Amino acid sequence: MFLQLGVHPALVISSAEMAKKFIKNHDQDCCSRPSVSFLNKLSYGGADIAFAPYGEQWRELRKICSNEIFSLKKVSSFRTLREEEIEHFISSISDLAAANIPVNLTDIIISLGSNMMTRIALGRSYHNNGNKLHEILQEMHSISRCLFVADFFPRFGWIDGVSGLDARVEKFMKKLDDIFEEVITEHLDPVRSKSDGAEDILDTMLGLLKDPTNNFTMNNVKGVLMDIFIGGTDTPSLILEWAMAELIRNPQIMKKAQDEVRSVVKSKGKVEETDIQHLHYFKMVLKETLRLYPPAAPATLSQRKP
Ligand code: HEM
Repeated sequence: MFLQLGVHPALVISSAEMAKKFIKNHDQDCCSRPSVSFLNKLSYGGADIAFAPYGEQWRELRKICSNEIFSLKKVSSFRTLREEEIEHFISSISDLAAANIPVNLTDIIISLGSNMMTRIALGRSYHNNGNKLHEILQEMHSISRCLFVADFFPRFGWIDGVSGLDARVEKFMKKLDDIFEEVITEHLDPVRSKSDGAEDILDTMLGLLKDPTNNFTMNNVKGVLMDIFIGGTDTPSLILEWAMAELIRNPQIMKKAQDEVRSVVKSKGKVEETDIQHLHYFKMVLKETLRLYPPAAPATLSQRKP
């Protein structure tokens, strides 16, 4: 079905067979996300990976990030940190349960996600900033659900000014940028003490700025940081929450998953990352959760290029 959404032509493809044909024959025509003003601001003018249009600059940035930030070596270097955060998460649940206090799983899953991401990206928990960051992410989701008249009918863009939407975006961007500036200044301080001596993602990106041959700019640093917080905080939290909700609704499946975990972990008392490869049923539970409740949508097919 073809829809003309103001200035944006959009094609809705609702069969798997047609989607497959389209991706095969018209991949390059439909692999950019819609170019809308809020995403353009959020991505520091397309300086990130998630919202930048497909092209040479995007390919270059993606290559740098795959090699330097999301490489197997880098991801493995955060293993201890991930295990520490999970241990803290489990013991919070145990403590609350031991004291007969109801557990608000949503809240502690969100703290787990934001603590883990801030430690990986910025080197420490940033408890206060973590909370500020959570508020900012909520505001980001709320703004991204608003309809910007300028995106569909540019001549009537003044309506966004009158409705207060433009001012809301400005205020939001200022808050986000202030946090980024604060952590960047802190990381650039030569006497900064790192909690465990490890290089976090921001350190790596600031290091990339020193090499002029890779065209990496401060806007790329902020754009990629923004991607990591938007892409990496809510997605795992939502999946974890849905998986727990479905397991609670299906006690037989919960029992089978628990039995598998116990048979693999045995007397160790805790799950280590290397155990995951043996948790086949558990992985199926996660994949089924992803199928039922995908927390993010792929760019492909989301918009036909004008
Ligand atoms: C359960 C967890 C996650 C799910 C379900 C998920 C899902 C997705 C999906 C569906 C896309 C769009 C792919 C496309 O357009 O073809 C995406 C892109 C992306 N995600 Fe995730 N994600 C998860 C975790 C993360 C984490 C932890 C990070 C960062 C540390 C992250 C960073 C990104 C980035 C940077 C992109 C843009 C990639 C590109 O355009 O090439 N995601 N994710």
